[in-house]
Amino acid sequence: MIIAIDGPAAAGKGTLAQNLAQHFNYAFLDTGRLYRAVGYAVLQQNQDPSNEEIATKAAKAFDPKTINSILKNPALRNETTGEAASKVAVIPGVRAALLDLQRNFAEHPFFEDGTPAKGSVLDGRDIGTVVCPNADIKFFVTASAEVRADRRFKELKDAGKPANYDEILAGIKARDERDSNRATAPLKAADDAKILDTSNMNAIQVFQTALDMIAVDHA
Ligand code: DC
Repeated sequence: MIIAIDGPAAAGKGTLAQNLAQHFNYAFLDTGRLYRAVGYAVLQQNQDPSNEEIATKAAKAFDPKTINSILKNPALRNETTGEAASKVAVIPGVRAALLDLQRNFAEHPFFEDGTPAKGSVLDGRDIGTVVCPNADIKFFVTASAEVRADRRFKELKDAGKPANYDEILAGIKARDERDSNRATAPLKAADDAKILDTSNMNAIQVFQTALDMIAVDHA
């Protein structure tokens, strides 16, 4: 069983993915973290994330066995790394290098301790369209740019970190633009995805709505 969840930054897809994975006892992969790890590796070398050769080399250097510890790095969550991730994600060589890794996980999912799982939940931008076009269930989770910026703003504030709403909104719009308009595997809903607009929902409502949608289709 494969559940694919796509959508723009800060729409709530990660929280939904984790809730569904926990509910069904499936393994979860946040594929954005893979792109973030590549962006981070390039920044660590003081290089430009748009440099095709360096970014592709960094993506190819991933060892699937050690991926879990790499993806745990808290530095992957910050805005600078997110921006770098969005830039490396445009590069076809980077996407190709990460494709097998994602497909292998979807088809042979495993939990953090390495034990196999009977299903997987992957979240990203192109899971339902490119990585797992045959996924059993597909969601496209979205929300207005303003709502998403507001969520990020509150998240940062709550964490006691500096936050500027206008800058966050501009960053989200720039990332949407880059993710949606790149030539390879752009952000878009699969034809058979269920669209979930979370603008006026909290995380529990999003989860409940998703479960209801699954129940209707898989009754
Ligand atoms: O979901 P996120 O913000 O952690 O993703 C970071 C960047 O990675 C995002 O701007 C686009 C890219 N990405 C992608 O191109 N394809 C995916 N499947 C996941 C993320």
